[in-house]
Amino acid sequence: MAEFLELETQDGVRMPFNVIPGTKQESSTAVIPVSLLYTPLKPFPDHPILPYSPLRCRSCRSILNPFSVIDFSAKIWICPFDYTRNHFPQHYASISDDNLPAELFPQYTTIEYEPPPESHAQNLTPPVYLFVVDNCLIEEEIGYLKSALLQALDLVPDEGLIGFITFGSFVQVHELGFSGGIPKSYVFKGSKEISKDKVMEQLSFFDRKPKPGSGVVAGVRDGLSPESIARFLLPASECEFTLNSLLEELQKDPWGVPTDQRASRCTGTALSIAAHVLGACVPGSGARIMAFVGGPSTEGPGAIVSKDLSEPIRSHKDLDKDSAPYYHKAVKFYEGLSKQLVHQGHILDLFACALDQVGLAELKVAVERTGGLVVLAESFGHSVFKESLKRVFQAGEYDLGPASNGIFEVSCSKDMKIQGILGPCASLEKKGLLCSETVIGQGNTSAWKLCGLDKATTLCIYFDITKKESSDAIGEATSDQFYLQFLTYYQHNSGRMRLRITTLSRRWIAGPGSTQELIAGFDQEAAAVTMARLVSFKMENEVEFDPIRWLDRSLIRLCSRFGDYQKENSSSFSLSPRFSIFPQFIFHLRRSQFVQVFNNSPDETAYFRMILNRENVANSVVMIQPSLISYSFQSSPEPVLLDVAAVAGDRILLLDSYFTIVIFHGATIAQWRKAGYHDLPEHAAFAQLLQAPKDVTDALMKERFPVPRLVICDQHGSQARFLLAKLNPSATYNSGASMAPGGDLIFTDDVSFEVFLDHLQRLTVQ
Ligand SMILES: *[C@@H]1O[C@H](CO)[C@@H](O)[C@H](O)[C@H]1NC(C)=O
Ligand SMILES: *[C@@H]1O[C@H](CO)[C@@H](O)[C@H](O)[C@H]1NC(C)=O
Ligand SMILES: [Zn+2]
Repeated sequence: MAEFLELETQDGVRMPFNVIPGTKQESSTAVIPVSLLYTPLKPFPDHPILPYSPLRCRSCRSILNPFSVIDFSAKIWICPFDYTRNHFPQHYASISDDNLPAELFPQYTTIEYEPPPESHAQNLTPPVYLFVVDNCLIEEEIGYLKSALLQALDLVPDEGLIGFITFGSFVQVHELGFSGGIPKSYVFKGSKEISKDKVMEQLSFFDRKPKPGSGVVAGVRDGLSPESIARFLLPASECEFTLNSLLEELQKDPWGVPTDQRASRCTGTALSIAAHVLGACVPGSGARIMAFVGGPSTEGPGAIVSKDLSEPIRSHKDLDKDSAPYYHKAVKFYEGLSKQLVHQGHILDLFACALDQVGLAELKVAVERTGGLVVLAESFGHSVFKESLKRVFQAGEYDLGPASNGIFEVSCSKDMKIQGILGPCASLEKKGLLCSETVIGQGNTSAWKLCGLDKATTLCIYFDITKKESSDAIGEATSDQFYLQFLTYYQHNSGRMRLRITTLSRRWIAGPGSTQELIAGFDQEAAAVTMARLVSFKMENEVEFDPIRWLDRSLIRLCSRFGDYQKENSSSFSLSPRFSIFPQFIFHLRRSQFVQVFNNSPDETAYFRMILNRENVANSVVMIQPSLISYSFQSSPEPVLLDVAAVAGDRILLLDSYFTIVIFHGATIAQWRKAGYHDLPEHAAFAQLLQAPKDVTDALMKERFPVPRLVICDQHGSQARFLLAKLNPSATYNSGASMAPGGDLIFTDDVSFEVFLDHLQRLTVQ
């Protein structure tokens, strides 16, 4: 494991196979797809930032890197991707063995460039935040939202530009930069889609001037005056007063709602108008729409349910039976919105806070393709929302490292093809020889748009190995290495454009004798995560897909390919330590919220999957298989098996399932606590025991986005279900297993891990 973590520290990369199954045949029998998880903006505090532009191969355009072969006397470098010989330009004339530029240092396989701007015209662009705020909320929720927004405004950097739109049955675009008199707002009907031309006309963007006929659409370059833009997007420091008073006036949609009806909420129209405003004002430079939505969309395009309360909001069952009348239309509408936003380079963030579903399942496409942030909570008063919103604007150690306007490109050796990416990105439709015919996620391209990304954003890239036979190579001067290069061009939070380059080399292997090498290079955590993303994707995109059957068959095939056993003898079965916890990951993945979707609403499922699709390996593993730590007087804190046998009266358990953290006090601990022992000086040790899991939790809450929900509960209490639902049901009433004193039983029909493993061994050796 340690060596894989080191590779991640060096390049932000994890791969299931670090020795690549090198032929088509070899890779298909390896079961787990040849794939790679890459975190393009992973912080590298010690790496230099080079103040110049990189050198590119004249034929394939890939960038000079430590794997290039250098001929110092001829001043030539050979590109490892296509073996092209490139001359160094004049300013590299002094290059020699002991005078290397930083991009050739062997340790800088990942390096960043920040070339000086080409001209003064390239001003630094300030961050833009367009708030789109639901005003059909009950008074209490309006209060919570208002105070959260005011707090957020305090954190926005002074030069950051703010815009403000509210919506209910109507959409109101508020003028923040009005000159004297009364603040103005422009009102649009929510019931139907409004074109960009119409929006520009109504906001009188080209009042005294002719509007450009074609091409880009607006922005200063198309002749839109800075004054027009400044009416709607104003520096935070200048609009504080107006915004304060607008927020104070935020009130219930004045058209009262009958008790048998849902509020008239035109989320789709509001977001579409927001996209038009940004498209007109700041096309092509980073900007975020931050939507705060407190209930289901019921009006206009993108509605997910009718206003009639007797009609329920779609469930997974309805989607399964294809009997959700609004669903496909709404998804189609948001697909259109996502295309517009990607084209403009803008991000959609969604803060959905309601007891009801708001339509996250439909909106997912627009948030995910634009790399937006998403937070789901029950109320705007919940700490999950409040703390997460603060984190968006927070600077310093725990900042998100937000960046925008990114473009991501991949180069690879000719025997690998790119199938696609699962993650927060959109295809730029750059087709060519690098693209595989079989597509996974955003595929059929070797370049992607990353409108929004941050230091945690992690892409999962899937490859197809196309090399026919290993024997082809005999006699040819081919290398036993595959090379990969990732290029991420993005707008840093400072406003400057940067270019991050990661170049990798991995050995490939094929034919007899390959098994041991593939095993030695197998990273089971990375494998579990690529399988989790893939199974979620297939569940959403393949009709009649059976995830349990697919996972089970993959696991059985993997175990028969890499396990050690005698045929028909299941007790002879064993797995190398490299694979030993993989069956457990699959067992938990089968039980997880990603696969058992019927326990959740479509909005919750969409939420969990969007976070899985953007997080790194360590965090994703916790989502698949939560971690459990035990605190007691008998030992120092120790990880314990995720099993009901871990529950005991004199223990505190800390369960981390990524989205929720549970601190669970055993019955005896709870009694002592209720008796106030921790306040007595002679029981200081007990006070420390109570505090220890809280300290760990505080640290986790600081570094995670969205901020997890915290549940503190007692054994036998009503909230204990948050822990028990995640535990392996080794002791159930059915099995009649004996219980540890003070332990707990789980009611379930699920198989336990022992039964699962037993089946797996029997099926594998057949
Ligand atoms: C990929 O692009 C080609 C060329 O545009 C197209 O013919 C093909 O259908 C696309 N394949 C997929 C799977 O989208
Ligand atoms: C099955 O494998 C076990 C463990 O390797 C071995 O002890 C046993 O003799 C084998 N049984 C048969 C029938 O070969
Ligand atoms: Zn080249």
